[in-house]
Amino acid sequence: MKKTLYLILFWISFYPLLAQTPQSIIPIETNDNALVLHIDKDNRVGVIYFGKKISQNAEYETLAKSLKYKDDNAGIYNSIYTPSGTWSLVESALEILHADGNTSTELKFVSHNIEKIDANVTQTNIVLRDPVYETQVTLSFKSYSKENIIEQWSTIKNQEKNTITLKKYASANLYFIAKDYYLHHYHGSWAREMKPEDTKLTAGIKTLDSKLGTRANLYQPPTFMLSFDRQATEDEGKVLLGTLAWSGNFKIDFEKDSYRNLRLIAGINPHASAYSLAANQEFQTPSFIYTYSENGKGEASKNMHNWARKYRILDGQGSRLTLLNNWEATYFDFDENKLTGLFKGAKDLGVDMFLLDDGWFANKYPRNGDNAGLGDWQENKKKLPNGIGYLVKEATKAGVKFGIWVEPEMVNPKSELYEKHLDWVIREPNRPETYFRNQLPLDLSNPDVQDYVFGVLDNLFTKNPELAFIKWDCNAVTYNAHSMYLEKAKLPQSHLYVEYVRGLYKVLQRIRAKYPKVPMMLCSGGGGRVDYEALKYFTEFWVSDNTDPMERIFMQWEYSYYYPAIAQCNHITDWSNVGIKFRTDVAMMGKMGYDIVVSKLDEKELVFSQNALKNYNNLKEIIWHGDMYRLVNPFENQMASVQYVNEQKDHAVMFNYLVDNRYDLTSLLSTTKLKGLDAKKKYKIKEINIYPGTKSTINEEIIYSGDYLMTIGINPNLSNRRTSVVLEINEVK
Ligand code: DGJ
Repeated sequence: MKKTLYLILFWISFYPLLAQTPQSIIPIETNDNALVLHIDKDNRVGVIYFGKKISQNAEYETLAKSLKYKDDNAGIYNSIYTPSGTWSLVESALEILHADGNTSTELKFVSHNIEKIDANVTQTNIVLRDPVYETQVTLSFKSYSKENIIEQWSTIKNQEKNTITLKKYASANLYFIAKDYYLHHYHGSWAREMKPEDTKLTAGIKTLDSKLGTRANLYQPPTFMLSFDRQATEDEGKVLLGTLAWSGNFKIDFEKDSYRNLRLIAGINPHASAYSLAANQEFQTPSFIYTYSENGKGEASKNMHNWARKYRILDGQGSRLTLLNNWEATYFDFDENKLTGLFKGAKDLGVDMFLLDDGWFANKYPRNGDNAGLGDWQENKKKLPNGIGYLVKEATKAGVKFGIWVEPEMVNPKSELYEKHLDWVIREPNRPETYFRNQLPLDLSNPDVQDYVFGVLDNLFTKNPELAFIKWDCNAVTYNAHSMYLEKAKLPQSHLYVEYVRGLYKVLQRIRAKYPKVPMMLCSGGGGRVDYEALKYFTEFWVSDNTDPMERIFMQWEYSYYYPAIAQCNHITDWSNVGIKFRTDVAMMGKMGYDIVVSKLDEKELVFSQNALKNYNNLKEIIWHGDMYRLVNPFENQMASVQYVNEQKDHAVMFNYLVDNRYDLTSLLSTTKLKGLDAKKKYKIKEINIYPGTKSTINEEIIYSGDYLMTIGINPNLSNRRTSVVLEINEVK
């Protein structure tokens, strides 16, 4: 009913515009931008424009007439879904081995429809078909107007009589026209996530990819920024932020063609993943998600945050729990008494929850180190004679909630599960096993394994309905990618990488159907797995095991372009010996937690932490749901500065850090301009998180206009003795 109403409203409001759109033009628009497709005289569909939208769609036809993207030697460069085996010689989006062994595919326009999902969201579907083989591809573009986001995927349908093999099946294939292209992308590894790289793209292909299977993003995430003409800055320049929503192998190609235009092809990595599709079956690719701004990276990132909180991250507009985790506090060395002793610390500190980490399970091969026990999810009787239920009760008595760590996709060879179900383990039966952190992934392509993994969580919740939180870890990559299940089912081994991820999503869907809202942290030995498909099921993710605050300033800065603060778990730990104030201030720029022994804090440290938590509770609404502004970039300056503002623009917080310990800190003498305030409002600025026994150098009595703060700014007075300064900004009414 609602849908029909929207359709009617849509036609009333958009008919005049659509009526002016020439038949050969398909504009996919958001509030500010347009991706414009053109159907040429041969019925091929190509991209003719990507950028700021214009008001008269009819004029796109003028553009179409003036462009020539056909190269008789190489096919159509600007194809919206480049087929292969015919006249196109550039990187393809689709490669098919047809039932008769033929390898050629051609795609021609058949039809398109526009579905108005609600006042903000529109889905355009374009149907393409091979005139010779009955293969059909539907390209779907879901545009979120206000957030300027496009989510794009493809559905390939085999309408031939027999099975075909998809050798490549991209999610998106775009085309950009600019003078130059600058790619900002990432590499990393354990404790070194999100190390940025900048590359000016040259002729040929630059590829971002992963072949790691589970924990796919360990060395490289499917996340990037692409600036056009020149490097975009925070507030200036044309920039696209893109990411693939898929928790497995990916491949993103940037191909600069012979016209110096840029072809982008993003999707599942075809490496070892040829997929056979029986007659009448469909294959839907994951989504490629992107936003574009002509006002720099800050605006593009704000688009991503607004979209993610509203449409993607589980409970993105809701609340989160502050917590005390015991991983670094105890590692595997704990028992019931030690844990219940820590609950008091959680209460003293003032956090909402205690999170029990790794080491609580397995009996035949107790989990006393990372070399045994994974797979045997029964409480270890020696450590926890009274079970999890007792811990939940004791935590409740101590006044905190209780959460628990699991790593249900994995198994140690030293485990009962491995002894019982070797056929559930991903391994090459005829080769020696290779381990990553002494463990192997279970074969989630197998429905029995899916049941088992679902059961791990379901049992925990059934026995302990008060469980308030799950930390879901995944520490190994996939070596020796071989599935006994696919072998028995006579399905190709090359389905494994895809079916693993699909199996994971099936489990997560079942968990969410039964436990829709329990907060879950996505962890992969750090941030090795975060993406926007997984975040449909998780409320937050573990940024990195590296909690050195100096490293975190840089890491969180880069993550923050793509993921809002509410999703980023930042814990205060003893990883570094930097003072607790600096560690706390940095952790506050996200979802704050602790991983320390509270009783080891001295009096001042405890008082500081208790006050900091009170400040956090007062500010978390702004940090989680407000607009984020990156004010001073630590990669380019001696300091970092980040600000969050609420919607009413009457409450804000500014975090400032010294990131350089040289004597010559002249750049700190100047002011930092704030952003996102109301020029006409009056504000007072107060320093918070002041360490006991120290005094602020900020005069709290001065009343500033928003205009002053955004035009001239304020100096947070960072120095070698004030390395971290948090300022709260309140409207004076
Ligand atoms: C890796 C995670 O990143 C850590 O936080 C911790 O949970 C360990 N695994 C436990 O084995």
